[in-house]
This record gives sequence, structure tokens and C-alpha cells, in this order.
Amino acid sequence: TDGDTSPPHYPSPWARGNAVDWQDAYQKAKAFVSQLTLLEKVNLTTGVGWEGGPCVGNTGTIPRLNFPGLCLQDSPLGVRDTDLNSAFPAGVNVASTWSTRLFKSRGNAMGSEHRDKGVDVQLGPVAGPLGRAPEGGRNWEGFSPDPVLTGVAIAQTIQGIQDAGVVACAKHFIMNEQEHNRESTATDAFAYSSNLDDKTMHELYLWPFADAVRAGVGAIMCSYNQINNSYGSQNSYTLNYLLKEELDFQGFVTSDWWAQHTGVASAFAGLDMTMAGDQNLDSGNTWWGSNLTAAVLNGTIPQWRLDDMAVRIMSAYYKVGRDTINIPTNFNSWTLDTDGYRFPEANEDYEQVNWHVNVQDDHAALIREIGGASTVLLKNTKNALPLNKPKSVAVIGYDAHDNPDGPNSCSDRNCDEGTLAMGWGSGTANFPYLIAPNTALKAQAANDRSKYANVSDNWDYAAVAKAVTGAEVAIVFANADSGEGYITVDGNEGDRNNLTLWGGGDALIAYVASINPNTIVVLHTVGPVIVEAIKQNPNVTAILWAGLPGQESGNAITDVLYGKVNPQAKSVFTWGKAREDWGTDVTYEFPSDPPQLNFVEGVFIDYRHFDAAGIEPSYEFGFGLSYTNYSYSNLQIAKQNPGPYQPTKGFTSAAPTFGKIDYNPADAEFPPGFRAVPQYVYPYISGPVPTGLPQDWPAGATDGSPQPLVGAGGSSGGNRQLYDTMYTVSATVTNTGSVKGTEIAQLYISLGGPTDPKIVLRGFDDLILDPGQSAVFTYDITRRDISNWDTVSQNWVISSYPKTVYVGASSRNLPLSGALT
Ligand code: NOJ
Repeated sequence: TDGDTSPPHYPSPWARGNAVDWQDAYQKAKAFVSQLTLLEKVNLTTGVGWEGGPCVGNTGTIPRLNFPGLCLQDSPLGVRDTDLNSAFPAGVNVASTWSTRLFKSRGNAMGSEHRDKGVDVQLGPVAGPLGRAPEGGRNWEGFSPDPVLTGVAIAQTIQGIQDAGVVACAKHFIMNEQEHNRESTATDAFAYSSNLDDKTMHELYLWPFADAVRAGVGAIMCSYNQINNSYGSQNSYTLNYLLKEELDFQGFVTSDWWAQHTGVASAFAGLDMTMAGDQNLDSGNTWWGSNLTAAVLNGTIPQWRLDDMAVRIMSAYYKVGRDTINIPTNFNSWTLDTDGYRFPEANEDYEQVNWHVNVQDDHAALIREIGGASTVLLKNTKNALPLNKPKSVAVIGYDAHDNPDGPNSCSDRNCDEGTLAMGWGSGTANFPYLIAPNTALKAQAANDRSKYANVSDNWDYAAVAKAVTGAEVAIVFANADSGEGYITVDGNEGDRNNLTLWGGGDALIAYVASINPNTIVVLHTVGPVIVEAIKQNPNVTAILWAGLPGQESGNAITDVLYGKVNPQAKSVFTWGKAREDWGTDVTYEFPSDPPQLNFVEGVFIDYRHFDAAGIEPSYEFGFGLSYTNYSYSNLQIAKQNPGPYQPTKGFTSAAPTFGKIDYNPADAEFPPGFRAVPQYVYPYISGPVPTGLPQDWPAGATDGSPQPLVGAGGSSGGNRQLYDTMYTVSATVTNTGSVKGTEIAQLYISLGGPTDPKIVLRGFDDLILDPGQSAVFTYDITRRDISNWDTVSQNWVISSYPKTVYVGASSRNLPLSGALT
């Protein structure tokens, strides 16, 4: 509710390095950090300022040890702001494949491209936004409003990226669910506050971050918004308590760009790195840098807290083997020209800045595969699909065509011209090329000797009528776009203004269908749009959602339309019939400042809400057709006995320090004759260190004595017994049709309590089946899967309500069920 507060939690937990997969890295980090001076430690924590180096984020350097500083680079779908990189399908697409193999392969391919460009930290993947409101501008950067699907996808993506030798940065922690008012600006003093209760936090929004931490993620980016009226970058409850204590996160927390609002307070609240380093874009001043140096020198911040920041950063670095990969940063985010400025903000040191390294490898094949495997077949009547050498094909809509100015002509994709293959904002990458559907479909038509016509202008109805009249099949492409809030496209300030198709898409589809009785609709949309009228139109014989497929868009959709790929994708969100059906929406205008965004719906977002409110959607969560059919049979439930749950007990050791700090302020001053680059953020101080500061820092903030472990914590992702297997469930899935296909078997659980959703997704698998073939779907139900968050004991508890497991093909097609006794 308005004015909710976030409980303080101090001190900031120091890395313990005891998790098996962190031990080695922690030891190396400890050895490295022990050699550093105060200034060198500060340099690790502080960005050098916007456009202060080649990457979107650059930390300071340690020249004495040949340490070039860290390069942090967007995005969650490829290397941003460079060339000769791949443009991968967006998060929402890969999620739609429900394939852990593809989650991981995509992560690994993206990680390899970042590695080969000389990036240390890839700024992705995304679990915040989760997707509370369907209009949320950045939902497509993440995976799905379902926390379990997002949790599996983020974990596999992280493993893929980090196996390639690059630190993954899961973002944005947390509750970054809309773009409107996400930042404080000249006119709005505060960013919105996402206000929510402890149970919703654990059962919904924190869930996938627990999976990210359990997967060993090296970095977490905190969010612009406030959480219960405390900023994401200085919220001691979310950072110190939830992330570093309960989830036992051993890596580092970086701010989002200019999302830091305090110096000492954010250090105490658990922030480890500030980006871009300057207080505001190009301000040239900083909350840390020289101020962090001064705060340590005058004793405000104890050495252990600074050492912990440095050790966390370097642990992530060693964990993924950055020390063994010697690829210097070979691109520059601020120009694609070969020569440019080494210090772009200051326009200083003109030299070679781009080496144009081609990092694409054979990732195009994977991108095409994911494009096909992520295309959801929503409707298929009168055997419309797959196409088989049609006599004539008409392809309609700008969304099928090239942007005439080229696929990268709009900076950060800040337009909706030509076919849509990614949204807009920082979560983008340049296309090496973009195969438009028209290109691939025309080639297919030529191959088949089909007559082919195409119209790109959505408003030229005369041309459209001519093209589709009498065509054996008319394929209409339409889209809906969204993105990050610093860009407005067609009046949409990041978040979508509505859930209709762009460019008159709905009217265009209705018009084509009024002429051609075999109209096939392909949707490139960032999320759900209202499709009920299209669904009910008898002349629309098929509907496909192709999402944001990346550079191989046209090839991928052609594979599906012509049956070279049998659709396997299932919708990762619900398709409501009306905007009100979701029960959640973006708040576009706030009556007061600080803006209060109350998550009054609790855990009831997306299908949980539709189920609870008894609302029939057009297409439900988990729905998707295939060119074959499947049956489900023989549910088996085997109870396991992992023993009773033991809350974690005990204490940490005292906060360690690494090396000795030289407390002589004179040694921290700019060296004589030093050439300071304008606007560049340095760790040096000039003049005397301020003393006599207020001493009223939060209680316990400087306490380095052993601290109690929390019951729900103790290991990566929370108490390790949460991941014990309680039941093993299996079912037989059979391909009853006549073509090979991949079925996504889904397992849901009813937790049974009066405040629980009707069902929640817990497991899934992709089963590849020849015609007539059966396979066994198996899922191990964990303790976490059947627990609720208990706000009183601050732990997960299995309630006494009767629990039921369901297995089937979607959230509303669950033929098998059984009691979990
Ligand atoms: C702000 C965005 O919120 C974040 O996702 C991105 O990584 C940074 N800008 C850097 O571009």
C-alpha cells in the first residue's frame, strides 16, 4: 500500500566463498585483492563515467598489475553497439521453446560472442520485469510472467554464458515492472515504488533470482525503482537480507546506470559497484570514486566492506575464468568507425578503437532453430498449415518487409519500420543482416513455382485487394512493439499504450480476410495482443505468434509455415480477450510523488489471475498447437523421503580484511603532473578528507562481528533442502499423429490453500517423438515446489492443505492428475 516501508538490515553480508562452485574463485580473489592499494580497490568498484571507455560500463584500471579494468556490455540478446555480431531471438522467444537445451545453447553462443569481443560482463539475462502487466515495455527482454519458467530459463542462460567465460549479470533486482516513472527526473523527484508483501516477493518475484543465484550467477544489477519506498540500489532488505543472506549470493551487485542515489548508504546497503560511475549522465562527479576513498580514509566505511566489494567482483571474474582468457576489448560502443576516441566523452586520444572482429561463428543456425521452435501455432483450421506448394501466395504488411533504410537505421531500434525482430532500448544488438519474411517466402515460392505477390504498405488497400484476391493463401504480417522508457515510439513511452496491433494491423487483417478465405496471420509482437476477433474470423484459417525472432526471422517463419519445422512452442503468457481481463496494468500517471505502485494483486498475475477470476482467455498460458497430436497417459507418483527440513543454523565468521590500507590521505591525492581526462571518474582525492560527518549510520552497518545465518538461507539459492526431491512424477506422452514432433509436457501443482492460485507451473520437458512413439516425462518435485512462504517463521513451509499434481499440454488442458499424499 502507499507508503509501505522496507525493514533495515545490516551489516552487509561479506562473501564467504564456501559454496563449492565459488571456493576456488574466492581464494584467487582474496589473493588478488590482498595486494591492492586503497585506490586500486576503489577503482574496481567504480565506473569511469559515461562514454569513459569502450563499453557501456567500464571500471577503473589497475595498471600496476596489468589489470585493464572490466568491460560491462549490453545486452540480453547479443553484443550491443558493435558489428559482426549476431542478433539472437529475444528472451520471450527462447522461453517459448520450453527447451532447456536451447536456453543453454543460446546463452553459450551469446556468451562466446561477448567473450570474443573482449567483454567481461554481459548485462543479462533478465528476470525483472517478470511481466506483471502485459503492457510492460521490457517484458520481452525477460522470459515469461511465470516464475518457474523464467527461473529455469535464467539459470540455463547463465550457465551457458558463464561456461563461455563471461560473467552473466541477472537484472533488474527487483520489481522493475514498468517503464513509466522508473527513474527520478527533473520533473519527478522520485522513481516509483513497487510496494508488495513478503509472501508475493518470495513466491513470485524473488523465485527466478533464487534460481539465478543457485546457477552461480556472477553479478546482479539492481533496479531503478524503489521497493517499498527504498531504492533498489540502497535497499538493505532486498540486497543485504534477501540477496546476500537468504540467497547467499557470492558475486557482486552493480547499480543500473545512474541508479545510485547515495554514497555511504548504498555501500552499507549492499551495493558493490556503481555504473556508469558518474552521478548522472556526464555529470563528471560520482557517489563513489574519490568519495569512497575519502569515506574509507576517514573511517566511515570499514575496510572490510570495501574489501568485500572488491572480493565479490574478483570472485565473479575468476569463477568464469576471465583470468585465462586474454581477449582485450576490440570494439567501441560509441562509433563503428575503425578510428575514434579512447576517451569518447572527453573526445581525447584519437586512435584505433574498432578491430571489427567477426564473432558470429555458426550461430545463425541456432538462431534459425530457436526462431522456428519459438513460433507458437495458435490456430490452424481447414488444414491451412503446413503449406505445400501452393499455386499462389500473397504476403501482406510492412511487418513482412525490410526497413528500406536498413535493419539498424533506427538507433537502439527506436522505430517500428519493416519487420519487427527485437524491441527497442538497451536490450538490443545490431543486426548483421535481417532476413525479412518476404525475402524468405519469395525464395520458397520461387522454389515451388508458386505465383507470388507482396504488398508492404498497410494502408494501400487497393494494392492489397489486388494481391490477395484469388490467391490460394494470403499471409498477413502484423506487429506490436515496446521497449525501454528512454525512447518513445509512436507515443509509447517504453510501455505499450494498448494491446492492439500497430500500423492498422487489426483492420488490415480484417480487410484481407474479407476478401480471401484462406488468410493466415503471423504476429511479431512483444507480448500478448487482443486476438479474439481474429480468432473468431472463419476466414482466418491460421494464427502464428512469431515474437521477436532475431536475424533469421524470415527463414524461421518459412520453416514453420512450410512444415520443415513442426511447431513445438507454447505460449509463455496468457492471451486475454480484453485489456481489463489481466487485472494488472501499467500505471501511466501517478497522483503523487513519490509514485506508489501497489502490487495489490499479490501472486495473481497472468494465468493465476485468469484462473482465480474465472476469465476465459482467447489462448491460455502454455497453449500451442502442432502438426501432429499427442496423448497423455499413465501418471505415476513416487514419494521420496529426503527427511525433515532443517532451518539453517549457526554463524558466519567475522568480516575478513585483505591486505593493509594506507591511511595517509596524502597518498590518495592525484599524483603530481597527472593528466586528468575531463569528466572521467577517478579514485583520487584532492585536498583534505572531510571529517566530522554525521555518525547516525544505520545500526549495525559497520559491525564486522560474526552474524547469524538465516533459516531459509545458508547456501546458493537458499537452504539447500529446498531443492530436495519430495516426489518423482512420471507420465507417458504419445505422438498419435502422422508427423514427427516435439511436445512440451507441463506439470502443475495445486498447493490447496485458500489463498493459493488454482494451479502453478512447476516442471516441463520437451519430448521429441516420431509418429506413434511414446516417451516418459519425468519431473522431481522439490520441497520448494510444494511450499509456501511463511511470513512469521520467515521460512518455506509445506501447508496441510491437500496438494494435487496435474500433467498435460497447457495450463487448461491437463488430462492427468493425482494427489500428493
Ligand atoms: C539501463 C538499463 O536499464 C540496463 O538494463 C542496461 O544494462 C543499462 N542501461 C546499460 O545500458
